[in-house]
Amino acid sequence: MTKRVAILISGGGSNMVSLVKSMTGDHPARPVLVVSNDPKAGGLDKAQALGVPTAVVDHRPFGRDRAAFEAALQKVLADARPDIICLAGFMRILTPEFTARWAGRMLNIHPSLLPKYKGLHTHARALEAGDREHGCTVHEVTAELDGGPVLGQARLDIGPDDTPDTLAARLLPLEHALYPAVLRRYAAGDRTPVSLSAK
Ligand code: GRF
Repeated sequence: MTKRVAILISGGGSNMVSLVKSMTGDHPARPVLVVSNDPKAGGLDKAQALGVPTAVVDHRPFGRDRAAFEAALQKVLADARPDIICLAGFMRILTPEFTARWAGRMLNIHPSLLPKYKGLHTHARALEAGDREHGCTVHEVTAELDGGPVLGQARLDIGPDDTPDTLAARLLPLEHALYPAVLRRYAAGDRTPVSLSAK
């Protein structure tokens, strides 16, 4: 049975594009919806150009009422009936109630080698720490921010001249390879971790 995938974005959606483009042929999943919390997210046009239905649930009118925002988000998701949700550059923190509702069915990509550097500014923190390697992680989403079971990682060496921006730019193509590889396995019910390296 083909798995229905909804993808949540907040910005340019480059990871969303990679995921959508990967779901073809004998892939066990297909994209059914792209949702953004930002009406101006560049990824919305990209999704539409790829023929994927889109929706916007602007978080701003809800202020600090995360539950109300998530209730509106849940309604949009319920209509699309996704089997899997992929967070892809989605920049809103989700409540434990929402992550519990989608437990075992929601993935996220984070630009660090978790459990290192949960949260923001991961590239700068890896550089400040003097790390020799960096990377990205796809994990199942749980109530713990950036803390769920790891489903895949991609690694690269940190160079002597790297800055947060160069590191982010060199990491993004690895993200675009890792997330589709993990989703393909996950949609087939296979949680064997994926390991990629550009080293
Ligand atoms: C990426 O670095 C991703 O790791 C993080 O958000 C950034 C932008 O992603 N979650 P995208 O281009 O919007 O997919």
